[in-house]
Amino acid sequence: MSNILLIGSRGTLGSEFAKLVPKNNIALADRPDFDVTDFESTKNFIHQHNFEVVINCSAYTNVDGAETDFDSAKLLNADAVKNLAEACRESNSTLIHFSTGMVFDGTNAEGYSEEALTNPVNKYGESKLLGEKAIQEVGGKYFIIRTEWLYGKPATKTAKKSFVELMIELGKSGKVKGVTDEIGKPTWAKDLAEATLELINSEQTSGIYHLINEGQASRLDWAKKIYQIMDMDVECEEALGSSFQRAARRPNYELLNNTKLPKIRSWQEALEEYLNN
Ligand SMILES: NC(=O)c1ccc[n+]([C@@H]2O[C@H](COP(=O)([O-])OP(=O)(O)OC[C@H]3O[C@@H](n4cnc5c(N)ncnc54)[C@H](OP(=O)(O)O)[C@@H]3O)[C@@H](O)[C@H]2O)c1
Repeated sequence: MSNILLIGSRGTLGSEFAKLVPKNNIALADRPDFDVTDFESTKNFIHQHNFEVVINCSAYTNVDGAETDFDSAKLLNADAVKNLAEACRESNSTLIHFSTGMVFDGTNAEGYSEEALTNPVNKYGESKLLGEKAIQEVGGKYFIIRTEWLYGKPATKTAKKSFVELMIELGKSGKVKGVTDEIGKPTWAKDLAEATLELINSEQTSGIYHLINEGQASRLDWAKKIYQIMDMDVECEEALGSSFQRAARRPNYELLNNTKLPKIRSWQEALEEYLNN
């Protein structure tokens, strides 16, 4: 893998790829110089440089915002993705794109395999599903990688804080509320980026893959583990998701099952390493 374009290199996930791939092999594309919603420039740029791989880490990730501003979510998560897929097919580049567990309705406590029936319960999930479908319709070489409950350190201070940083901040008050009826698989962006690079270098064919740290937790379990590792004395009160005012509905069981690829380590092990460094 020598000639890679990384779009959205300063976000939670993008910044991990930027650290892992040698600088000579990667072109970083970020706003304002590179805007994926500028369809023509994006296509021209990809056509001009013969990229072997295009990694798309750009996205509209405001789950609640998508309820009232679906146009913006769709523009970035579906229309821009279709344009990227076309540019990649025309240039014979492999497109790496990320999607979410929120394409499923989250009613199945056993979780969801790569082929399970999709049925998003919120507008963000809907916009991401449109992006998946667009790539499949365009064709070419692609990996759609679904993931969930991502955390890490984005490269910019203004970027959205992940759950881990948020809970550490809230925990300083000595008392927090933790949701018990939302279950997921907390996933470290660094582990996801490493597993993605392995997938790119493998013989796998185009398709949908699930990459997540193994195991599962409620938001409350996750918060408690953070405080245990950080040695913080925080009183954690149980709460239902419905007790928080949020525009978007959350799936109860956002559980992606990885049935196609080597499994990544447990979420607890990954979290320990993340917080101890
Ligand atoms: N975070 C999660 O819990 C989670 C869960 C499941 C799936 N995912 C998926 O994983 C992927 C990465 O998510 P993330 O959490 O790393 O996202 P993120 O931290 O919000 O980063 C998104 C990146 O996209 C860039 N971007 C936004 N609009 C752009 C545009 N018009 N042109 C170019 N770049 C643009 C942002 O740049 P600026 O700095 O300029 O805004 C930022 O670098 C996304 O596809 C997301 O849907 C995330």
